[in-house]
Amino acid sequence: MSETVLLVGGGGREHAIARAVADAKHGELYACASNRNPGIESLASGYEQLEETDDEAIVAYAQSVGATLAVIGPESALNAGVADALDAADIYAFGPKKAQARLETDKAFQREFMDRENIPGCPDFAIFEDGEAAAEYIKTYDGDLAIKPRGLTGGKGVRVIGDQITEQEGIEYVLESEYESFVLEERLIGEEFTIQAFVANGEYRTAPAVQDHKRAYEGDTGPNTGGMGSYSDATFALPFMSEGDYDEAVKIIDAVVEALPEYNGILYGQFMLTKDGPKVVEFNARFGDPEAMNTLPVLQTDFVELLRAARDGEKLPELAFSEQATVCKYAVPEGYPTDPVAGAKITIDAESAGDASLFYASVDAKDDGIYTTTSRSFAVVGVAETIREAESIVENAFERTGTDGLRVRHDIGTDELLEKRIAHMNEIRGR
Ligand code: AMP
Ligand code: GLY
Repeated sequence: MSETVLLVGGGGREHAIARAVADAKHGELYACASNRNPGIESLASGYEQLEETDDEAIVAYAQSVGATLAVIGPESALNAGVADALDAADIYAFGPKKAQARLETDKAFQREFMDRENIPGCPDFAIFEDGEAAAEYIKTYDGDLAIKPRGLTGGKGVRVIGDQITEQEGIEYVLESEYESFVLEERLIGEEFTIQAFVANGEYRTAPAVQDHKRAYEGDTGPNTGGMGSYSDATFALPFMSEGDYDEAVKIIDAVVEALPEYNGILYGQFMLTKDGPKVVEFNARFGDPEAMNTLPVLQTDFVELLRAARDGEKLPELAFSEQATVCKYAVPEGYPTDPVAGAKITIDAESAGDASLFYASVDAKDDGIYTTTSRSFAVVGVAETIREAESIVENAFERTGTDGLRVRHDIGTDELLEKRIAHMNEIRGR
């Protein structure tokens, strides 16, 4: 039977989800988002422009198109209770309810949950409801701390002492920033990686590890962003880690799923591979953006079949991946993330991208063309036997089409950066 799938969200991640639904044997796609994403629009039978947090409007649209399934892309929608509202209207949403999404939306809740449930890989942490007390703790703590505002900040609120800022700047940050409530935790040192798990009915299936690049500029410098690009290898691990490291991280995911039997949707684990193995940087309650663009293009299992099994309480299918490497690079507006300049006309399209895949993100389709906004514009993804080949597919696409008014981290997925990661991990492990 064919399913009518409503997708919520209009970024690069959602364009990748849209493609996975469009590639499924039995799925018709409808979508809604606050922007007009031309990539999603071209794959969908209907597209409604509405706020991703407007649960009533989303339910009304889902009902009007006869949705039998919904997939929620962004955390803002989960935080607004869109999954709860769809459920109340008897429409199955792949995405956790608001209470479970707190794993992402409330960092204090997340650490307390890990502590209470004895989830492995939890760094030392302390929670503060006011800046003064947090500042005192920073002054007396022996070692570097990561400072995390409690709520959602689009990946841009965290500051790490000894990495991006000094102790004094950390103290000023907790006293002077717009945030009030903080989690302060032990600074983890190592290499980061992401594992996304498809979770439903107490079962889960994991995808290959991905490494994202948070820093705005080449060489991992500059402010944190939503993620400038990412890569995955042809195996489940990454060049700087072993299969055993991957399995250790999956054990952590296993413990979370066991502690949250009602969780459904993507469980995204952000890990730091330290000298003592993987530790949890954070959990997210949805696909990563950009990581979805590494994972879904190599997923061979029918995505709509997977969603249907989740909805109907059937055993989840084992997932098959194509055993290829992927590289994803975002083109972002000049000045992103601090002073982004919007309004550049985008010159790349699916055809000019050639062997590479194009995923539109925060762009606006107007009558005379597609324009950038103030957030990440579009991603180009290469899929090949090796990371090196995937990387050159991406670079060739950028060279052909140009990137006027845009900026790209050209170092992502290069041999040079990969070797740096491997050397860093060897150094940490004393090899
Ligand atoms: P988050 O918003 O929690 O993903 O944090 C953003 C980034 O801050 C992460 O991707 C890490 O690079 C860094 N970060 C967060 N927590 C820690 C930690 N405990 N130690 C070191 N770096 C961290
Ligand atoms: N890639 C980071 C995120 O999706 O939060």
